[in-house]
Amino acid sequence: MERINFWLNVFFATLFAAFFLFAWSSALKEGETCVNDKSCDSGLQCETCTENVTVPPRCIRIRPHNPLHKVSGLPFNRYSWLTTHNSFARMAHKSDTGAVLLAPMNQQDSVTVQLENGVRGLMLDMYDFEDDIWLCHSFHGRCFNYTAFQPAINVLKEVQAFLEANPTDIVTIIIEDYVTSQSGLTRIFKASGLGKFWFPVSRMPSNGTNWPTVDSMIEDNQRLVVFTTKSSKEASEGIAYVWRYFVENQYGSDGMKNGSCPNRAESASMNTSSRSLVLLNHFPDTPDLTEACKHNSAPLITMMNTCHDAAGKRWPNFISVDFYKRSDGEGPPAAVDFANGQLVCGCNNINSCRPKMTFGDCNTLEGSPAPAPTIEASTSTTTAAGRGFKRSFADSGSGQRLQFGWLMGTGLIIFSSSITGFITI
Ligand SMILES: *[C@@H]1O[C@H](CO)[C@@H](O)[C@H](O)[C@H]1NC(C)=O
Ligand SMILES: *[C@@H]1O[C@H](CO)[C@@H](O)[C@H](O)[C@H]1NC(C)=O
Ligand SMILES: *[C@@H]1O[C@H](CO)[C@@H](O)[C@H](O)[C@H]1NC(C)=O
Ligand SMILES: *[C@@H]1O[C@H](CO)[C@@H](O)[C@H](O)[C@H]1NC(C)=O
Ligand SMILES: *[C@@H]1O[C@H](CO)[C@@H](O)[C@H](O)[C@H]1NC(C)=O
Repeated sequence: MERINFWLNVFFATLFAAFFLFAWSSALKEGETCVNDKSCDSGLQCETCTENVTVPPRCIRIRPHNPLHKVSGLPFNRYSWLTTHNSFARMAHKSDTGAVLLAPMNQQDSVTVQLENGVRGLMLDMYDFEDDIWLCHSFHGRCFNYTAFQPAINVLKEVQAFLEANPTDIVTIIIEDYVTSQSGLTRIFKASGLGKFWFPVSRMPSNGTNWPTVDSMIEDNQRLVVFTTKSSKEASEGIAYVWRYFVENQYGSDGMKNGSCPNRAESASMNTSSRSLVLLNHFPDTPDLTEACKHNSAPLITMMNTCHDAAGKRWPNFISVDFYKRSDGEGPPAAVDFANGQLVCGCNNINSCRPKMTFGDCNTLEGSPAPAPTIEASTSTTTAAGRGFKRSFADSGSGQRLQFGWLMGTGLIIFSSSITGFITI
């Protein structure tokens, strides 16, 4: 009996160690060379920014840090949120009409997955279609079977489920609004169950003053902030007219020209202080999955700096991109972490912010965890890519050695403790 116990212990100790070896080696850390998304830790994705086969893919971070988990209690306009441009236009999506979609695709995953990955701003194009309101990518304000993705209510229900399951999260929807049917938007928001989370226009500051605090929004369960591009709907349906509250730079390729940050035509100029929210668009006219990796890396950080200067030294509250998961490792999540660091506590990374700290008193923690973007130095694409590349190799080499040593240690400890257990029994 005791012999069996001993061998059982040895067996389980070995099994346990083997399990750890497997689990550990299959969850690669940020910056390590990888073969596919599954080999990376959660919140990471295996990416490469170049078609150069000698440059191996690395695990890169796809989720920004939740700033509310670091410091809560500030006005809504003191935070920055990862935002997806045309959030609904998902690759490989087939039109719910059954038609083959001939519309551009801007994102890789569903709105539910986007929300799970920390996306908190959704840009949705809505059209009257088929006696309903559809998410559509179209022209001349009309939707067609081959440009229609799905009824908007489906995606609103995804947002509803997320807000229901995450009672301390706030989501913003910006509607590119082609809906002319009477109270059409009101109807689908109500039908989706999102009505109860509605943040009312009456609480939005229209003169550039601070928004209510995130805490009060959460406490009052007013955690859905919705904007429309149709000004009349603010009075008729209580949906905020986006450019009464936002300044926003030029979207598309014209907005990606290095060194300048013009406002989009409908927006007041970037430095207008009577708008308390700043939105940064950074995506080309035609979505491009391959190029997005580059666009979402150093040039995004550079444009964020350029727009900061243009916007009267204000960091963006919303950073809007295509294919938000694509970057060389210092992409949209790093940009959002940086903007949050600046907005929340005056530091280069939200990780440096602590409750009740003095604004700008960053010294000790600054830049210690891996991905703090070296913003000053990242104006050139090649420098940033080169830096990331070198770091990946440095990290993966020593990382693997460290892991191995750690594992041997763990295995031995488990093994010896099971022997000890056997002896004392
Ligand atoms: C591929 O990347 C390696 C390492 O950075 C570099 O030495 C090589 O010149 C690159 N090849 C091409 C074709 O760009
Ligand atoms: C468009 O899709 C609807 C179903 O949503 C279908 O009834 C209709 O026949 C389609 N029209 C064309 C021209 O394919
Ligand atoms: C700005 O608007 C708020 C209400 O939205 C009001 O309480 C405040 O007095 C206004 N401030 C200025 C300077 O007009
Ligand atoms: C972008 O502009 C900055 C200065 O605003 C400059 O330092 C940098 O080299 C430019 N990058 C490219 C790729 O042109
Ligand atoms: C604001 O920006 C515009 C350009 O968009 C510029 O003409 C104007 O001088 C700026 N105002 C201030 C106060 O900086």
